[in-house]
Amino acid sequence: MGNQEYGNMTKGKRAEFGTKLGVLATTVGSAVGLGNIWRFPYEVGTHGGGAFLLCYFVFVFLIGVPLMCSEFAMGRGTRSNIFGAYRKLAPGGHWQIAGYLAIIAAVLILSFYSVVAGWTVEYFFQSVSGSLNLDSQQAYHNKFDEFSTGSFRPIFWTIAFLAANVVILLRGVSNGIEKMSNLLMPILFLILIAFCVNSLFLPGAAEGIKFLFMPDFSKITGTVLLGALGQAFFSLSLGMGCMMTYSSYFKDDTNLVRSSFTIAALDSLVAIMAGIIIFPAVFSFGGEPAAGPTLVFEVLPTIFHRMPFGAVWSSLFFFLLFLASLTSTISVSEIVIAFLIEEKKMSRRKATWFMMSVVILFGALCSLSFGPFKGFTIAGLTVFNLFDFVSSNILLPLGGFILAIFTGWKLNSGYMRDQLTNNGRLRGREFGFIMTCVKFICPAAILLVFLNCIGIL
Ligand code: PHE
Repeated sequence: MGNQEYGNMTKGKRAEFGTKLGVLATTVGSAVGLGNIWRFPYEVGTHGGGAFLLCYFVFVFLIGVPLMCSEFAMGRGTRSNIFGAYRKLAPGGHWQIAGYLAIIAAVLILSFYSVVAGWTVEYFFQSVSGSLNLDSQQAYHNKFDEFSTGSFRPIFWTIAFLAANVVILLRGVSNGIEKMSNLLMPILFLILIAFCVNSLFLPGAAEGIKFLFMPDFSKITGTVLLGALGQAFFSLSLGMGCMMTYSSYFKDDTNLVRSSFTIAALDSLVAIMAGIIIFPAVFSFGGEPAAGPTLVFEVLPTIFHRMPFGAVWSSLFFFLLFLASLTSTISVSEIVIAFLIEEKKMSRRKATWFMMSVVILFGALCSLSFGPFKGFTIAGLTVFNLFDFVSSNILLPLGGFILAIFTGWKLNSGYMRDQLTNNGRLRGREFGFIMTCVKFICPAAILLVFLNCIGIL
């Protein structure tokens, strides 16, 4: 979504996504990214496998889908971003606090996400140049360790990735990127299927599949629940108004409920595929599932190395992952930029540079926290982990909590019914289920998980 649309918004005329595919492509573009392919496996790995997966699924369908419907209803109904939407629906209230939380979350996410996207770019070039050709899992571990703990290279790639964002944001060419990713994401999907098949045939693959799919209920703790909740929000781009902003460009006849289910299903499918690729390999090659944020970058190259034409697969994969990350960061950036333009009256150019200066600074800190600043921790977390934890596990669910209270209790249910049934044109069989979740299950579950984690429950 580029400046044309935001420009139009202020003039009262707004562009709309022309096709069903347009609706899906942009929202899935935001949802599918490093969250599925990098964050999901490492969260599963550190939180005990199947038990985490189960909680994650429950949260995606009982909290994620209903809250996505809420975001869609608010976005399309008001044709506004998060600030405007709360303001139009509840003038003079304090609900806009959700907007401020979203801005903080967006800046934190952009900062750590860009570091990982930078790693992707490095690994793309390494694949192309043929230097990802090592002979053991340990060697790949050492290689990644040496790279990520360095100062210059990872920061360079972080900044390069952000620069790509700036170009797109300033030129308003995200339409082009979206079109390109429409074309290329199905290819990502296909090669993920190929990688899944490949992983399933690794010696000892069953061990990894068991780890991923067999829940050990004794492993479900407060931290696992919070992790799964955060992952559900993060992966679905929920809780900070991304989906709300995108839905403000939907047509009046877009089926919001069905779209939410489709997006959640596709997003989960990609995450599961990433799990099916990673865990058999981890167990087969003798890796450590709980390696944390570096997991995927240590395991994937080993997988590619053993495949015929490994360098080709690897280059293609890292390139597509880079693109998938780009469509996600653009959606996050738009939250901050729209805020600076509309609320702080900055020009698009000034807003972009202002935001990027902050993000480059924070991004560099995140990157250095793998190396020189490793010892600097707050509550036991490095800067990178802290940014990740605070945004995904606290701010997004908090934004979701406010959203649930607002759309479940403050708005009259006629508004939600009109939006979710397109003014009665759809039968709305799921309406009762969605609203029960929005009203009761979402706020209660988020609250319980929070209370449990701070030790009150
Ligand atoms: N959902 C994106 C991903 O999985 C990340 C994201 C989070 C995007 C929050 C927008 C808002 O990669």
